[in-house]
Amino acid sequence: MAQSLESIPNNVDLSSDRRLQRALEQWQPNFLSWWREVGPEGFQAHQIYLRTAVSVEPDGWATFDYVRMPEYRWGIFLAPRSGERKIGFGDNFGEPAWDDVPGEHRNALRRIIVTQADTEPASVEQQRLLGKVAPSLYDLRNIFQVNVEEGRHLWAMVYLLHRHFGRDGREEAEELLARRSGSSDKPRILNAFNEPIDDWLSFFMFAMFTDRDGKYQLSALAESGFDPLARTTRFMLTEEAHHLFVGEMGVDRVVQRTAELMAQGKEPRKEGAVPLDVIQRYLNQWFTLSLDLFGGEVSSNAADFFAAGLKGRFREDDQPEHKALSASYRLEVPENGALIEQEVPLRNAMNEVLRDEYVKDCQRAVDRWNKTLLRSGVSGLSLRLPSRRFHRGVGPCATATFDPEGRLISEAEYEARKGGWLISEADRAYVQALMHPVYQRGKVASWIAPPAKGINGMPVEFEYVKPPDA
Ligand SMILES: [Fe+2]
Ligand SMILES: [Fe+2]
Repeated sequence: MAQSLESIPNNVDLSSDRRLQRALEQWQPNFLSWWREVGPEGFQAHQIYLRTAVSVEPDGWATFDYVRMPEYRWGIFLAPRSGERKIGFGDNFGEPAWDDVPGEHRNALRRIIVTQADTEPASVEQQRLLGKVAPSLYDLRNIFQVNVEEGRHLWAMVYLLHRHFGRDGREEAEELLARRSGSSDKPRILNAFNEPIDDWLSFFMFAMFTDRDGKYQLSALAESGFDPLARTTRFMLTEEAHHLFVGEMGVDRVVQRTAELMAQGKEPRKEGAVPLDVIQRYLNQWFTLSLDLFGGEVSSNAADFFAAGLKGRFREDDQPEHKALSASYRLEVPENGALIEQEVPLRNAMNEVLRDEYVKDCQRAVDRWNKTLLRSGVSGLSLRLPSRRFHRGVGPCATATFDPEGRLISEAEYEARKGGWLISEADRAYVQALMHPVYQRGKVASWIAPPAKGINGMPVEFEYVKPPDA
């Protein structure tokens, strides 16, 4: 069913800009065909209990109701302007933020926006088959919530491209619907977004680790001197919190189920649950893949983006010095078979500075999972975050081989031992075999504990997804 443009909730005064309105009207049917073609398969007509963003008011920014996904009201919202905003970092520190794209930063900003935008539809494509094997109606609803909001994030970015980048922006918006996750001729831009997500453990790991990279990228962009980008990403972060919750608590519930069985002296494999060593290998793989998304440890691009005021640090306000001109950053890099210390200007280490915040946040989640292990009666065993040098595909550590503790090891040793560290074919097949749909209200699959509570105050056994004709 076609949606009229007037029905698109927005706070950007869409109706007053005819040119923009026409551009979006042309893009919208293509978005909907994309959604039907590669969005969640088999559930387009189901009624899903979804949250829809309707305003930017902190209390009551969203409503909850049953919606068929193709009729979701993908809106365009920018966080409210906060007075006369100033650029908070870099060479232009203290100058007024830009409402329009400065000519000299046009290409860089377009690249930043397109790279972020590309991840949004990519993740919907990656997850499109998972509805067929959801472990509960609660989880089924959650993945669709994440999917429609990634769709809204695509709208948010496409709005910026259409509104601020003219013809180039319109072409980029079309390309965003033309690339496909995992495709050999038109893949998505970033690697982790071309990885298959065929099972729910991968989905929870993705939402925990890969979507969390998104949180840090969005936080850095929320500082941008290009004010429309800052305000758009700020609002996206309010939705993102739920995606990260779905990932972190999803893994937590898998850990809980495994731990409860172990505490009863049962073997998780015999009970249709996921053994702890398999969970650890999934964690290792998704954490390290996601580390690469931050880019190289030493990066002149990152320095340029910071200098220009395009991309700041996580919570730039809390930083002691916003030009970051005099400080330096020490890091360890492999060189000729040894780890050596290198000192680089802070601006060149901005990717690593953001990665530091991310790693801290991931460690916090791992600590939570380990508490769940203990609380469920398993002591002496724990999950661990591998070293950020392990299994890297980007940056200096990609040129050498490391074990999960971060020790430099020979390639031969790495090859011999990696089966114990990364997801094996056998792991994948085992987890895949556990995937069966559980669609009875209040029931969950054998490999995961039920959630502690439902969505929006509803009970766990609420009918979060209804068949089309219900
Ligand atoms: Fe997103
Ligand atoms: Fe997300």
